[in-house]
Amino acid sequence: MIILKNVLKKYNNDDVISYNDLKIDRGDFISIIGPSGSGKSTLIDLIAKLKTCSSGEITIFDKSINAYDDKRSIQLFRKEIGIMSSSSSLLSVLNIQDNILLPLIIHDENIINSNFEHIISKLNLKNLLDKTSADLSSGERQRVLLARAMVLKPKILIADEPTANLDLYNSKQLVNFLRYLNDELKTTIIVATHDDIVSSISKRIYELEK
Ligand SMILES: Nc1ncnc2c1ncn2[C@@H]1O[C@H](COP(=O)(O)OP(=O)(O)O)[C@@H](O)[C@H]1O
Ligand SMILES: [Mg+2]
Repeated sequence: MIILKNVLKKYNNDDVISYNDLKIDRGDFISIIGPSGSGKSTLIDLIAKLKTCSSGEITIFDKSINAYDDKRSIQLFRKEIGIMSSSSSLLSVLNIQDNILLPLIIHDENIINSNFEHIISKLNLKNLLDKTSADLSSGERQRVLLARAMVLKPKILIADEPTANLDLYNSKQLVNFLRYLNDELKTTIIVATHDDIVSSISKRIYELEK
């Protein structure tokens, strides 16, 4: 489903991050771990097509990530892959419900075919829908970002430190949701995390070294 081959990322300041080859199958749940600065977020952004590799190749759904280059195929890519990256944020001018529904508008999808109702109940978001992001705690905001990433029922979820800044209760709630996505919806999950609760429920660990 996702293949990394000889992937290297160079930044302008001559930082070079090289990634071991990796094959992620449908239904996998993989935790990317490693010390701060080892390249976890960079890898998330590469797979999410938010950054490009300096060399090597990433293949997703049997197609090179670089081949998703026209409007139609990029749209398909975005629809099939839910992203919760370190740069994901909520729009302050929309209420929480509309923030979660935003992907439906972008992709011209009907709420009836979406995962909206189901996700709202699973993530316990009913009471937040009329609020705005300024009214939420960080735990609530993380749950909303996850809901938005999953509302189009993507085949793959890519998340960067989804439990960062959360207390134990909120982390466990979020982790239970990841487990549900992987077990019940068969969502393929890739998370960068330094949270043992997350890595302990994943099926595989991909470790980066500094
Ligand atoms: N936009 C950027 N420009 C230059 N260097 C970057 C940029 N983003 C990340 N880096 C560098 O790449 C390395 C890996 O960073 P990152 O992927 O954020 O690691 P992690 O998420 O594991 O903490 C670090 O040395 C960081 O300084
Ligand atoms: Mg990071």
